[in-house]
Amino acid sequence: MSEEIRFDGKVAIVTGAGNGLGRAHALLLGARGAKVVVNDLGVSTDGLGASSAAADAVVAEIRALGGEAVADHHSVTEGEKIVATALEAFGTVDILINNAGILRDTSFHKMTEEQWDLIQAVHVKGAFRLTHAVWPIMREKGYGRIVMTASGTGIYGNFGQCNYGTAKAGLIGFASSLALEGASKNIRVNTIAPIAASRMVIASGLFPEELHDKLKVDDVAPLVGWLCSEQCQDTGGLFEVGGGFHAKYRWERSQGRLLHTNTLSPELVRDNWERITRFDEHSVHHSNGGEGFTELFARMASPAKGGNAFVDMEVAANAVSYLETEYDQNDAALYALAVGAAKDPLDRTELLYVNEFTGDDFRVLPTMAVLPATEVFLRAAKSGEPQLEGLNLPFAKGLHGEQYTVMYRPLPPKAKLKHTMRLKSAIDKGKSSVSVLAIETTDEHGTPLFYNEVTGFYPGVPGAGLERVASEEINVPPARVPDAVLADQTDVNQALLYRLCGDWNPMHVDPDYAAKAGYEKPFLHGLCTFGYLGRHVIKAFCDNDSRLFKSVRARFASIVMPGDTLETRMWRESATRIIVEMRAVERDVIVLKNGAVELFESVPG
Ligand code: NAI
Repeated sequence: MSEEIRFDGKVAIVTGAGNGLGRAHALLLGARGAKVVVNDLGVSTDGLGASSAAADAVVAEIRALGGEAVADHHSVTEGEKIVATALEAFGTVDILINNAGILRDTSFHKMTEEQWDLIQAVHVKGAFRLTHAVWPIMREKGYGRIVMTASGTGIYGNFGQCNYGTAKAGLIGFASSLALEGASKNIRVNTIAPIAASRMVIASGLFPEELHDKLKVDDVAPLVGWLCSEQCQDTGGLFEVGGGFHAKYRWERSQGRLLHTNTLSPELVRDNWERITRFDEHSVHHSNGGEGFTELFARMASPAKGGNAFVDMEVAANAVSYLETEYDQNDAALYALAVGAAKDPLDRTELLYVNEFTGDDFRVLPTMAVLPATEVFLRAAKSGEPQLEGLNLPFAKGLHGEQYTVMYRPLPPKAKLKHTMRLKSAIDKGKSSVSVLAIETTDEHGTPLFYNEVTGFYPGVPGAGLERVASEEINVPPARVPDAVLADQTDVNQALLYRLCGDWNPMHVDPDYAAKAGYEKPFLHGLCTFGYLGRHVIKAFCDNDSRLFKSVRARFASIVMPGDTLETRMWRESATRIIVEMRAVERDVIVLKNGAVELFESVPG
């Protein structure tokens, strides 16, 4: 066994050492060579009465074991008198264990100011008085060991102990600062939250009776002995100890959110609440307040942390943007026509998308759910404002890379919609950047309707500083022949029709604008072809019941020219999953790839 821990030549004060935990501390220190001042006022557990018997008995015990000890019968509220006893008997103080304590438990609504003050006086003021008196002595000699006695109540709280919990938590705060102030003088200050079936605990009925035998008062003293030893360099710690269990406590800060101070509001706090309060692998611990503040100030000083010149991740990751839109049957019918529905007015299969006289049978094509996402983008472009605070990717350079749309339920014939947009991720693709925006949509009552994920690809906008994510080749069509193939020829003025649905980007209508951007002529909106794709799957696999359509994902591989024939090839992977790919037939170019559509097994309620 390693060298025994001893206290030869050291002078220790233990307050409240006539009973319970204090007695055990005093006996341990005395048995290991310390000269002990056994302080105790000899009161009941609620602080009544006074007697010298308790302290005297412990002094006698220490002496009987061959140790050195003197009794002190002052109250800790006169702490300097106890320190005077130590100086008079032994000439110095090396160790102080602030242990004396009483209870005045009662629920807060019944608590008197006297009950409050008394508890603060004994626990906090008492510890202050003693510590204040030993402090210059310890500083002067460059050595000191101080232990505060807190309690689980000071950490978690306890019914009927508001006064006591305040005092005990106060001691934890006292020790945290004192540890910092004592560090350079080799004064170590630690706090314990003991658990022991002392007379105080038995009287209060706090712990289950069957555990009393296991929670011996003597079992707290060894940890206290270690904390008071010359060897132990820990300081500022809080330790839970009892019944053989030993543990250390620390504060944990969630990763938190640095919210943009220009837009701070209770709503912004509410909208970020989950992230503000979440403890996960990003949570941090600091051994002292200095470290905690340093880390925080560095974060505040560097708002671009985790981003680059185009994306301020700390801000963008917090940002939320709201939009409200509405549509009715006319809008739904226009959208249906714009994505090629009901081209043959005598073919009844798709009339239900355009004929409001079908009443309850009127259907809204699910891919119309992409329109609000477009609206969010275009509003930002028009206003010159970023799509989201902190997200300053140049809109003019952006291409629509991928679209994912999920239906929570079929779209009603008309609705007022509320959209909430957040940044899902911003990705470094070397010389390019990618942003993924997530837009949740509810109806005006807050019922979730659908979700859009819009992937923007920004060629020539360097991504360094953003997250790196490897590309995945998903939804690859199988080698076999498709299970279904449907084709529709678009009209040469298809883009002019589709833009009336709200996607007014001049690229799709203005020949000069398109030419300037290096294109032969205005090309068709990617999301228009996306609508054709959805329609084809509904026809081929849903028996034309659009309500079975659950989600669609596809990458935009190449532009479509108005007049192209769009051919959707579909491979059924399971009853509810279809791999899809779209080709512009005349030019034999794949225009939508890595696509998949999921279906509901039955029409959702
Ligand atoms: P205890 O009642 O057995 O011992 C406390 C001693 O302090 C008594 O001998 C009493 O006469 C003395 N005392 C009370 N007021 C005094 C004053 N003003 N000046 C000088 N001496 C005074 O209780 P126990 O359990 O040994 O408590 C020791 C410390 O541990 C207390 O601070 C208590 O709050 C704390 N504690 C105990 C827990 C436990 O499970 N036993 C749990 C959490 C904290």
